[in-house]
Amino acid sequence: MSSLISITAEEFRKLADYIKAHYGIHLKDEKRALVNGRLQSVLAEHGFHSFSEYFDYVLQDKTGEASITLMNKITTNHTFFMREAEHFYYFRDTVLPQLQRTVSSHDLRIWSAGCSTGEEPYTLAMLIDEFFGPDKARWDTKILATDLSNRVLEIAQKGVYTAEGTEPLPAAWKHSYLSKLPSGDSAVVERIKNEVIFRRFNLMNESFPFKKRFHVIFCRNVMIYFNQETKTQLVDKFYDLTEPGGYLFIGHSESLGRDSTRYKFIMPAVYRKE
Ligand SMILES: C[S@@+](CC[C@H](N)C(=O)[O-])C[C@H]1O[C@@H](n2cnc3c(N)ncnc32)[C@H](O)[C@@H]1O
Repeated sequence: MSSLISITAEEFRKLADYIKAHYGIHLKDEKRALVNGRLQSVLAEHGFHSFSEYFDYVLQDKTGEASITLMNKITTNHTFFMREAEHFYYFRDTVLPQLQRTVSSHDLRIWSAGCSTGEEPYTLAMLIDEFFGPDKARWDTKILATDLSNRVLEIAQKGVYTAEGTEPLPAAWKHSYLSKLPSGDSAVVERIKNEVIFRRFNLMNESFPFKKRFHVIFCRNVMIYFNQETKTQLVDKFYDLTEPGGYLFIGHSESLGRDSTRYKFIMPAVYRKE
């Protein structure tokens, strides 16, 4: 029987500092037990006897794989279809009609930053499909969806969800955009899957290598784990990457200080670049 290895306060501090510096995520002391638990299997797999040994291994691993595995374990990826539905209604009723009128190139650029297992970008893709209808053929509406964790990206790319997971979707969408599998799960149809491009991207990266600006950025329930300074810097980058007239959606429990952002406040958790 393998025994539990405990992380000391000092080891936790070192690990938390490393995670904050590289991934922006601020782990409070209360998270010590959680981190301890989530990493047990990784330590056991490698036969480490202490968190110090494990941490040295992460630091020395030049392939970056150890760090990826660490973050796959640490990130909180809870998400669901139609989460914070008012955002999607605002997007459908106000943002999309505006973009339809003003984007003469017919090239819409939407980014779901911190997309987790894909429910958010797929919800957007379904909304867009319904909104444009047959006219969609004349538009490029591909959505970029990024996350730090490649574990969640693999799930997102498969696009298979349980009946319970797809429950919040309207019946008409379930009919048009999902196909039932023998297991009882539902798969997102190819037509919608092809609309979403999943990539691994760390929002703490120095450079954001995007050639064109976005009309809409969704970064919801991601910055809750960041401290104020990291958040302000990231929102600044988002602003530079937003088309004039474009939008930023954040999570409902988050807010941007009015003085700390150039975005204009539109309604709770919705901001616009004028
Ligand atoms: C709680 S989920 C939010 C998913 C979705 N946006 C929503 O609102 O339901 C937060 C996601 O942010 C990702 N994340 C955390 N830090 C990140 C970083 N530095 N770069 C990119 N993604 C990050 C996590 O991996 C996780 O999947």
